[in-house]
Amino acid sequence: MANLRHRKNWELPERLATPESVFVNRRQVLKTLGLATAGGIGAAAGLSLGPSRARGAANLDQTFKGLPALNAPRNPAFDLKLPLTPEQIAAQYNNFYEFSTEKDDVWMLADRMVTKPWKFEIAGLVDKPAVMDLDDLLKGIPLEERVYRFRCVEAWSMVVPWTGFPMHKLLARVGVRSDAKFVKLTTFMNPEVGIRQTGGLFFAQEPWPYTEGLTIEEAMHELTLLTVGSYGHILPKQHGAPMRLITPWKYGYKSIKSVVKLEVTDKQPATFWNTIAPQEYGFFSNVNPNVPHPRWSQAYERNIATRERQPTLLYNGYAEQVGQLYKRA
Ligand code: MTE
Repeated sequence: MANLRHRKNWELPERLATPESVFVNRRQVLKTLGLATAGGIGAAAGLSLGPSRARGAANLDQTFKGLPALNAPRNPAFDLKLPLTPEQIAAQYNNFYEFSTEKDDVWMLADRMVTKPWKFEIAGLVDKPAVMDLDDLLKGIPLEERVYRFRCVEAWSMVVPWTGFPMHKLLARVGVRSDAKFVKLTTFMNPEVGIRQTGGLFFAQEPWPYTEGLTIEEAMHELTLLTVGSYGHILPKQHGAPMRLITPWKYGYKSIKSVVKLEVTDKQPATFWNTIAPQEYGFFSNVNPNVPHPRWSQAYERNIATRERQPTLLYNGYAEQVGQLYKRA
């Protein structure tokens, strides 16, 4: 029972706080208690997992093979020439807490999300606020593919070809007002779909819906990608279909999935993990090997495909592009 405990305030699940060997062991403990089998934590919390868990996606490949192709050209300025993480590995190693605290069952559980049609709202300090279908929003915005490094705060990494468009293109279209200072992004809220959004036995204080935020300068940065595809096709649900954020120089939790709203504001928005544990998850969350997480080092990372341990790069290798954002005057 060493790793099974009720949390006083919000602390991250152990998987985010401990070496993999420890949280794998924790899963064993939950299994022994009958909490981590099909139904798992959700069932223990009295949640119905519904047909998706029972049916599951027939197999992992179905969640990404056969998805409509996007055929967006790869932007040579963002082609890292690094070996890509094989899709079948990236597609079953997911953090999507609306569905599960386990990485390996998100691809099954997220299958219940209906991602078309998808209403998207642009609000706040913009000239043209709007609520529209995502397909309409995408009309006239050219898509491109970019190969980015991705670094999770848990010290794992991958290399993924994302398809999308820089957020600044959307912001230019809606007209950002001069008093704008931040952008807030929000994920869908529907506990019948995101089965953990009701809270749960262990994590009763989760501040759903998941929110994230950027400064307006970060939002306007060329690297900041609103992403609708990966590996040449539309995003699979487990990666945050139909649209998510990718900010490759920040820890992965900033890359909010399945976004329904973008709000331009003059106040720093509250964000999911920062609300839960501000001492552990800052607002900026830039990848930095020299700033350890309070409970583990960030000096190294492990590639989820090769399992190789490699030194963490400042700003995840994007220092040249984003370093200027954080230079004090
Ligand atoms: N977005 C939402 N809405 N919910 C989440 O739980 N997890 C974050 C981020 N975006 C998360 C989210 C974390 S912790 C990580 S590391 C990445 O998504 C994982 O993205 P991936 O599963 O596509 O690799």
